[in-house]
Amino acid sequence: MSATRIGRRRLLAGLAGGSLLLASPALLAELLATPAQTLGPFYPDRLPLDRDNDLLIVGDQPGAASGSVVQLHGQILDSRGQPLRGALVEIWQVDAHGIYLHSRGGDRARRDANFQGYGRFETASDGRYRFRTIRPVPYPGRTPHIHFAVTLPGQPRFATQCYIRGEPLNQRDGVLNAIRDPRARERLIVSFVPLAGSAVDEQVARFDIVLGLTPAS
Ligand SMILES: [Fe+2]
Repeated sequence: MSATRIGRRRLLAGLAGGSLLLASPALLAELLATPAQTLGPFYPDRLPLDRDNDLLIVGDQPGAASGSVVQLHGQILDSRGQPLRGALVEIWQVDAHGIYLHSRGGDRARRDANFQGYGRFETASDGRYRFRTIRPVPYPGRTPHIHFAVTLPGQPRFATQCYIRGEPLNQRDGVLNAIRDPRARERLIVSFVPLAGSAVDEQVARFDIVLGLTPAS
């Protein structure tokens, strides 16, 4: 059993014992649901043939996407912090030129044909997902972000967006700041940090998503 799981068990035991007030703010924050955000107008209007979790390589094409490589990963959790299995995680974002995989998503002629623009991953029992993608760039009117949708069987699609800690444009992004509660807003902002030992300046970002679901069991 991992340290994380042991930690969660202790947390749950603490809550069951009525010691909610003694739990630290950090532990309580783990149980707050990730805020939902608009799906936006640029969910691909035609999904690519290659829909895997490596957005840097498209099909058999020899080229690789332009941009800074990011290993994006995280866990899909329920409101008790338990991993959710069978969650379909979808991401989509602009390419290095700020153009979406969408017929109205920017100048088609400038689109990076080597960037998949969209990917999906289905979680196993550990609730984990991972993608290889690029660090998102700004486009007119928006700070850099990655769109996410998470769908559990029989549930409506949950949509949100992930932002980069320290991006100056975060301060005046209308979609991000539509979340008025700063603590809720913080849950969508994650650190993109250099991957130790990477020869090509890769970065790592972890974005966990807590769905506001209470499991039946
Ligand atoms: Fe967007």
